[in-house]
Amino acid sequence: MLDHYLKWVEQLEEALNTWGSIGVDGEYRAVVVGGMGGSGVVGDYLFLLSNSYGGLPVIVVKNHVPPRFISDRDLVIAVSYSGNTLETISFVKKINRVKDLVIVSSNGFLEKYCLENNIVFIKVPSEYVPRTALPYMLYSVLGLLDTSGYTIVSRRDADKAVDFLRNSIDSILSTGREIAEYIYRCSRNLVLAVHEPYGSLGVRGKNEFNENSKIPVKVEIAPEWMHNDIVGWEKPFTRDYCVLAIRDPGDRVGSMLIDYMLKIYGRNGFDTYVLELSGDNVLEKILYGSMVLGVSSIYLAEFRGVDPLVTESIVEYKGFAHSIFG
Ligand code: PA5
Repeated sequence: MLDHYLKWVEQLEEALNTWGSIGVDGEYRAVVVGGMGGSGVVGDYLFLLSNSYGGLPVIVVKNHVPPRFISDRDLVIAVSYSGNTLETISFVKKINRVKDLVIVSSNGFLEKYCLENNIVFIKVPSEYVPRTALPYMLYSVLGLLDTSGYTIVSRRDADKAVDFLRNSIDSILSTGREIAEYIYRCSRNLVLAVHEPYGSLGVRGKNEFNENSKIPVKVEIAPEWMHNDIVGWEKPFTRDYCVLAIRDPGDRVGSMLIDYMLKIYGRNGFDTYVLELSGDNVLEKILYGSMVLGVSSIYLAEFRGVDPLVTESIVEYKGFAHSIFG
């Protein structure tokens, strides 16, 4: 499965080839992005990027019900790699007051639904699994917004980030392996500590270690951490944890917050590893961080003798979900 991650640059280049080909034409106040799991991360990253660069406000929905406040002044985007996720299908079917709906998918029910209902459809290549198709899905939505006059990331910055990632592959592979070796050596519950605005990178990392390496992960995000989690570390039931902290070295406040967290973790006797985000800007840093964490979760799966590709529990849940969502 490592090859999926090694194709990230290729995926971004492919998505750039279609940048400008699909757009929508409306006056929007916000963009609402629905989707679950690996597809839902597209919404999280759009939120992060829009927060950092400006652009339409982004509302992320990871639920089968769209928010009541959605109106025809909002652009709605639903992302489901398989096109068959019941929560996302329900979300789409319940969107009825909206003028502009865009669906991103590789296949499945949602592709047919778009054709039958004349809905704007962005087709994603089908040779991946949802979580490893993140670059293509993210860039196709950034391209859609740019083409529609609601730029969050410009074409120029999108191009530059691809060059950056291409030149960083060696560092990504060696850092990813080093982190996997650290977690494997530790063999304890993992705490993934991160500072804002990179909270969703921490969640993405958690998802990768959950799905690919089959371990539970606790995500702790500063500065909110300073107002609750920190107290939990006064008297935990167990100190069976090790910490992977992520910091943007260009962010003075964020770095100081991570230093503070490391002091408290140290007081608890936890081992720590600090991943420093490379890149010139937030887009490059989240692509770099996502790829390091993805690659690392694959190496960790290899060390543990588990298959990163197979997510049996999700398949089992999806079978059962029919009885919940109908
Ligand atoms: O990465 C994964 O495989 C999962 O997290 C899926 O993304 C999640 O189950 C939702 O499926 P889909 O992305 O096909 O809508």
